[in-house]
Amino acid sequence: MFIFKSKEELQKHLAAFGNEKTIGFTPTMGALHLGHMHLIEQSNLKCDISICSIFVNPTQFNNPNDLAKYPNTLTTDLEMLVKVKCDIVYNPPVNDLYAKGETAKSYDFGSLTTGLEGKFRPGHFNGMATIIEKLLNIIKPTIAFFGQKDLQQLYIVKDLAEQMQSNTLIEGVETVRGKSGLAKSSRNKLLSESAKKEASLIYNCLNYCKNNKEDGVNKLKLYIQQEFLKHGNFTLEYAEFVALNTMLPINDWEGVNKNAVCISAYHSGVRLIDNIIL
Ligand code: PAF
Repeated sequence: MFIFKSKEELQKHLAAFGNEKTIGFTPTMGALHLGHMHLIEQSNLKCDISICSIFVNPTQFNNPNDLAKYPNTLTTDLEMLVKVKCDIVYNPPVNDLYAKGETAKSYDFGSLTTGLEGKFRPGHFNGMATIIEKLLNIIKPTIAFFGQKDLQQLYIVKDLAEQMQSNTLIEGVETVRGKSGLAKSSRNKLLSESAKKEASLIYNCLNYCKNNKEDGVNKLKLYIQQEFLKHGNFTLEYAEFVALNTMLPINDWEGVNKNAVCISAYHSGVRLIDNIIL
């Protein structure tokens, strides 16, 4: 596995392949878990070369505390990437990607950014899109892989690629879950074992919605709110039913696999998000 710390080295290495190889790209912020491994496996299946970036992007953190707390597990990350047969890792310092004092660009993603994470993490998606635009321009992958757990991010990146007139295909990959249903996330490392068990509440609520669609949006929303009230260690930030193509709230179903329910909740100071397509 090749590890590059600068975009020049990376691009030089990629240039040697000419246009003959397809490139699969998985951007990450490190603290890798089985969800990331699943993205790289998809990349290995669909492309000749798999590249993973590990870069904790400062411009997408609206809360400096969150950035400071973000887990850093580079040694284990690299071991996991060797095991999953990733070909190339790009792990640059901040100044390889940002000029001094550079801040996030301002994008217009229309309704995609108005609700959910866009509402509770102001500026987050501008920062995320800024780094993804830079990475897509540097790597020019054939396919870029994004987890469905960050559902709004996935749809924004698809829109970004269109706005950039990029040739890269943006592919969403299903969420990987632990035994209790808890979605794999780098933030799970900050949870105690008992908190992880309790966190199955999120998946149980999502699954309940999937199995009880006939109850309708309003009743299901109330159900989630009541379930969270019963579990004192959790604080529900939002439970929102949205249309996939707009990310706007819905009152009625729009058809099979056209909607999703998205939940954000705090447990012991850790923010967890998850969703299920309905
Ligand atoms: O989902 C993430 O880990 C980040 O938002 C991403 C896509 C790597 C951009 O920094």
